Amino acid sequence: MNEISIKYIEIERSSNKFTELENALFLKASDACNSAYAPYSNFYVGSCLLLENELFISGSNQENSSFPCGICAERTALFSARSSYPKLKILKIAVTARSKDFKNTNPVAPCGLCRQVLLEYEVSQKSNIEIYLFNDHKVIKLYKAKDLLPFYFTEKRLRRK
Ligand code: THU
Repeated sequence: MNEISIKYIEIERSSNKFTELENALFLKASDACNSAYAPYSNFYVGSCLLLENELFISGSNQENSSFPCGICAERTALFSARSSYPKLKILKIAVTARSKDFKNTNPVAPCGLCRQVLLEYEVSQKSNIEIYLFNDHKVIKLYKAKDLLPFYFTEKRLRRK
């Protein structure tokens, strides 16, 4: 029998355990919720990435009346970062959400598609991406994208390098 375990921690959002860059990352992810285009779900998701040169890249969910065209906040930020700064490593990603219709008691976690995209970049940049899922009360910190998707799909091209 094999077993996989993952490490994560929960931290009070108001604690002083975060660095200045992490606090800025949370503020920018919250702010990104304001640019969400979510007239169908009324669910406003904001995400922000920290790149190795201390640049922040934000993204929000963008919906469409043709539903499958829509994209999550995380992938908006990830694709934006990777297309504008292909050589820079992604150090951290923060995700938060607000809803018109209900209170979010638990931080939102990335969907399967976003996990796959996160993982591809983590594998290709050869260094972990820390993940922070948060709301007004708490932050869940994971240490690598792989923990969110242990049996991930990857092409041979990536594995042989
Ligand atoms: N959504 C995200 O942006 N990120 C997630 O991690 C989960 C879901 C978006 C997609 C859609 O616009 C809305 O939230 C409702 O599912």
